[in-house]
Amino acid sequence: MSNVAVIGSQWGDEGKGKIVDVLSSEADMVVRFQGGHNAGHTLVIDGVTYKLHLLPSGIVRPGKMSIIGNGVVVDPKALLEEIETVKGQGVDVSEDNLLLAENATLILPVHPALDIAMEEARGAKKIGTTGRGIGLAYEDKVARRGIRVCDLAHSDHLKERIENMLDHHNVLLKGMGAEEMKVTDIYDELMGMADQILSYSGVAWKAIDDADKAGKKILFEGAQGHFLDVDHGTYPFVTSSNTVAAQAAAGAGVGSKKIGYVLGITKAYTTRVGSGPFPTELHDDIGEEIGKKGHEFGTSTGRKRRCGWFDSVLVRQAIKTGGIDGIALTKMDVLDGFDEIKVCVAYDLNGERIDYLPASTVDQANIKPIYETIPGWKDTSQGARSWADIPAAAVKYVRHIEELIEAPVALLSTSPDRDDTILMQDPFRA
Ligand code: IMP
Repeated sequence: MSNVAVIGSQWGDEGKGKIVDVLSSEADMVVRFQGGHNAGHTLVIDGVTYKLHLLPSGIVRPGKMSIIGNGVVVDPKALLEEIETVKGQGVDVSEDNLLLAENATLILPVHPALDIAMEEARGAKKIGTTGRGIGLAYEDKVARRGIRVCDLAHSDHLKERIENMLDHHNVLLKGMGAEEMKVTDIYDELMGMADQILSYSGVAWKAIDDADKAGKKILFEGAQGHFLDVDHGTYPFVTSSNTVAAQAAAGAGVGSKKIGYVLGITKAYTTRVGSGPFPTELHDDIGEEIGKKGHEFGTSTGRKRRCGWFDSVLVRQAIKTGGIDGIALTKMDVLDGFDEIKVCVAYDLNGERIDYLPASTVDQANIKPIYETIPGWKDTSQGARSWADIPAAAVKYVRHIEELIEAPVALLSTSPDRDDTILMQDPFRA
């Protein structure tokens, strides 16, 4: 029996929320370990849609413990609002099923303000961030001026920390012609939320260790995706955290051996929101059709996602560099009905065939996908719950993907509904 980490193997939006929800029926504890409310995880349960950003997906299941680990950047206002929203949908959220790491870094109003101002200043070269202040909060953490959940318990200390932070940021805001922030405004807002936030806070690493010692099953829930990783992604068009499974150890406070099986959530095609290289992007009717059929709009920002064919070079690289053991293939049904389907099997870089994504932004912009064309299928795979219900050509597509990416498909998802899932290999028992 092992723990499981669920990771996006492309540029996020692979359908992690549903898969975490499916697996959380078996897990006792669900742990977020990086990112913040830039994430958007959609769960559909008995016809009710839940859109989660900061709360671990296990929250919607009664009896599961949800942990927001120290590697997450937490906007306290957004967290309290999200708790209220899901409570309004009938979900029980209390100190009994939600624990916020006392050493998690906070996102304060100065962070989104700067995020947005900096994106504006970048003009055409913008990253396309979610505008939530994620990168700025991580910058502060690394620069050792971050404010953490535990600081809310010490009001004088908190004020000093805010002063220290604003000494830095107000220079930037002034330089960009934006309004400077006042210490008292941030302090008063934080103190107004402190009791509520602190009621959820505690020693998260200890709770995880206790659960592990008691033989409980732990699910580590990644956000974003492999190619948004600050080291392994399409830098600088990335998020500001490590999104790979190894980050679960540092971002939750567990030893790396505890992570267990790494499940890479992978869409049967490719999408991306925001700017940056995307070798298999389609700028034609097929791209539009995939977007329409797949409802490809961001959960967090509502932005239209860019769409393209499956890129086996990218996913294989995510498997190798991220330690992914098997994948969950999602949204297969979106490919139903196409006469033919293309799969990228290599890139052409200035006339040379390469089988990896080069690190340079210039090379990434210049590579051309080399495709294999395979027959499509007319029957639907939507809602299939067994292999027998999948069109033969779709089964062939899945098998071919397995060969190309050098990893097994452990799970196949055929609709947003948690029951429309075919399990080939149970990650907790692999
Ligand atoms: P940030 O994380 O808001 O700084 O945005 C950096 C990049 O990551 C942008 O291209 C965003 O669109 C992308 N991004 C951040 N969170 C997600 C997500 O949950 N899904 C997909 N893309 C994301």
